[in-house]
Amino acid sequence: MAATVPVEIDELLGQSRWIDRLAVPVQQIVRRLFAGPTGLKARNILNGVWLGHPLHAALTDLPVGAYTTGILLDYLGLLSADRHLQHTADLVTGAGWLGALAAAAAGLADYSVLEDEQRRVGLTHGALNVLGVLAYTGSMRERLAGRRAAAVALATVGYALVFTAADLGGHLVYHLGTLVNRQAWNRGPAEFTPVLPAAALGEGELRSVEIGGFPVLLTRVSGRVYALGNTCTHWGCRLDQGHLEGASIICHCHGSQFDLRTGAVINGPATAPEVSFDVRERDGHIEVRARPY
Ligand code: FES
Repeated sequence: MAATVPVEIDELLGQSRWIDRLAVPVQQIVRRLFAGPTGLKARNILNGVWLGHPLHAALTDLPVGAYTTGILLDYLGLLSADRHLQHTADLVTGAGWLGALAAAAAGLADYSVLEDEQRRVGLTHGALNVLGVLAYTGSMRERLAGRRAAAVALATVGYALVFTAADLGGHLVYHLGTLVNRQAWNRGPAEFTPVLPAAALGEGELRSVEIGGFPVLLTRVSGRVYALGNTCTHWGCRLDQGHLEGASIICHCHGSQFDLRTGAVINGPATAPEVSFDVRERDGHIEVRARPY
């Protein structure tokens, strides 16, 4: 019974629509931070486009690991009055504090494109982390002033807040599917398979066809036919409802841009590449074969 309580609280947050009154305006402010070409470049870096998976998930290991080590050393240092332990605790906690700032920046970029339930839980997750950073900021100040007991007390409060926020972060990903690759289980045919008469696909057209239940996007650019999976890896929107830009397709939902030639992500928030296909025309038909993912 006890194991189910946190999940129920997480789900309650997701269903609490009153949180939208704050979550939506905060998201609008965050979006303005990432507006324009420079904002887009910054968001790509913070989303983790260059890394091939969400950066926030990797960065959070630093504060969580450092804070956990720091709080253990804090109590050992307090009980033993060992100056070396206390000094090490200060260094480790300081590293966690810096890591938390970096993780927060990446988290803001992710928050800018959340929706509905995910946005409500995301706001709560972020607010708890902000409170955690404030508590740790106070703890750092007390350390510098040499007030050990107050520093450890504030670090304990900060750790509890960050731990609760981390639990919500897990709920966001594992229960609500936030930033999970929507093509993780889809590949398409391993052999060339006819999908459409070649004459049925005009220049610049976006067509969705299905192969064994797997939706595939077909388009023709400068006479050449391209095929990608039709489900955006970011949030699952249909790519045939997006628009072309040169040899790339831009998703209409949050603007992820994929290279038609390779499926590579050009602009996020998607970080996972799109499923891509070899394409050939045989006997008047377009045939596609999935490439290794
Ligand atoms: S679903 Fe978000 S960019 Fe495509």
